[in-house]
Amino acid sequence: MMDMKLLVVGGGGREHAITRALSCNSDVSIFSVMAHSNPGIARLAERVLLEKETNIQKILPFATRCGVDAAIIGPEAPLEAGIVDHFESAGIPCVGPTRAAARIETDKAFCRRLMERHGIEGCPDYRVCNDPEEARRFIESYDGDLAIKPIGLTGGKGVRIMGEHLDVQGAIDYVRHLGGNVVLEERLIGEEFTLQAFVDGEHLVPMPLVQDHKRAYEGDVGPNTGGMGSYSLQDHMLPFVSWSDYERALGIMQDTVAAMRAEGTPYRGILYGQFMNTRDGPKVIEFNARFGDPEAMNVLSILESDFTEIVRRITEGSLSPSDVRFAKKATVCKYVVPEGYPEAPRTGEPIVVGDYGDALLYYANVEEREGRLYTRTSRTLAFVGLGECLEKAEAIAERAASSVSGRVFHRRDIGTGESLEKRCRHMREIA
Ligand code: AMP
Ligand code: GLY
Repeated sequence: MMDMKLLVVGGGGREHAITRALSCNSDVSIFSVMAHSNPGIARLAERVLLEKETNIQKILPFATRCGVDAAIIGPEAPLEAGIVDHFESAGIPCVGPTRAAARIETDKAFCRRLMERHGIEGCPDYRVCNDPEEARRFIESYDGDLAIKPIGLTGGKGVRIMGEHLDVQGAIDYVRHLGGNVVLEERLIGEEFTLQAFVDGEHLVPMPLVQDHKRAYEGDVGPNTGGMGSYSLQDHMLPFVSWSDYERALGIMQDTVAAMRAEGTPYRGILYGQFMNTRDGPKVIEFNARFGDPEAMNVLSILESDFTEIVRRITEGSLSPSDVRFAKKATVCKYVVPEGYPEAPRTGEPIVVGDYGDALLYYANVEEREGRLYTRTSRTLAFVGLGECLEKAEAIAERAASSVSGRVFHRRDIGTGESLEKRCRHMREIA
C-alpha cells in the first residue's frame, strides 16, 4: 500500500489504542487532534493540534493542511457536532457516522423509535417523555422498575435505575431535575456485554465480545464511571453468552445497520452495542457510535490484521470478514484512576509508573511535565495484559496496575476467575 496519512480525533486511552494499532503499519503517518496532550499519542503522531475535539472550524483546516487521506473519530461529542459531515463535504472520508447517523447514540429516543419502526428484536419496553407530569404518571402506573435516561449525551453517567439508585419518589424527582425530557425504560436484569463492529454503511464485521466494569469499586459497587476496566476471552466469546444469544445480538446489530441504510442515513464507522443478556436473551441497553473506552483497548490490542486497511475498506464501503482477524488471546484492561474518581478526583497528583512487565500501557487523561506524570480529572492510565488464558492476562494487567504509585486506585477484581464465576452464577440464577 502507498503511504497513508490518517487523522485521529480524541486524546483518551481509546484513541491511544487506535493510534497504536494504526502505527503498526510503518507506511502510515498519524496526525492527532486532542484537547490535552496525551503523551502516548503525542509520541506516535507526526503532528498534533491541541484543540477541543468539537471545534471543527479549527480541526478541518488542520486536516487539510496535513493532507490527511481519512479521519478516525474517537469520541461521540465531535460526531454529534457534525465533524463527519464537514470532513466529507471537504472530501475527507471518515471512520465515524454523520451527525444524522450518530443519533443512534446521541438521541436515545431516536434509537428506540428506530428499533420499534423496524421491528428490531431486543428493544425493552420504553416510553419517551417530554413533560415531567407525563413521566410521573408513567412511573406511578408502571408495574416494575424503570431505568431513567436523559435523552442526550451524558458521558455514561446520566442513567439512574429504580430499585438500585432510586425509589418511585426519587425517580419522579430525578425526572423533574432533568426537565422531563427522558426515556423511561423497563429495568433489565442480567449480565452486560459489549459487541463492537466495524461497519462500512452496509457490511458489518464483529469484534470479540468484551465485558466492561462501570462501577467505581470492587464488587461492582459505588458510582457509575466511564468504565474501570474490561476483559475478553481467547475464544472471543463470554461464558454467560450462549452461541444463540451471540447470534441474536449480532442479528440486532445487522438489522440496525440495515434500518439506518433503509432510512437514508447509512451508518459508517464503529458500532458499539451494549447488551444486557437477560433470561429472554440479549436486549439493547444502548448503541454507541464509536469504540468503547476501555473496550477499544481490549480488541485493538489483539487485532492481527492491518487496521489501516480496515479503515480504507470502511471508507470505500468494501469491508469483508476476511479483512479482520484477531489473535486468539484473552485480554484484561485495568484503568488506574485518581483517588476520589469519579465524583471528586484528586487532580495534579504526581504518579510514578513502575516496572509494568509485559503489559501494554495506554495513556489517558494524564499530564506529562518535564518527564513526570500528573493526574487530571478523569481516568489516568490503562494497562492491558494479553495471554493464552484469562488468568495469565489478568496477572499481567494486575501487576502492571499495581506498579503505579501515587494518589490513584484501580479495581483488582477485573478479569479474575472469581469475578467471572460470579457473573456465570448470576446468569444461571436468573435463567
Ligand atoms: P448507558 O449510559 O445507557 O450505558 O447506561 C449506563 C448503565 O446503566 C448501563 O451500563 C447499565 O448498567 C445501566 N442501564 C442502562 N439502561 C438500563 C436498563 N434498561 N436496565 C438496567 N440497567 C440499565
Ligand atoms: N465503556 C463504555 C463506553 O465507552 O461507553
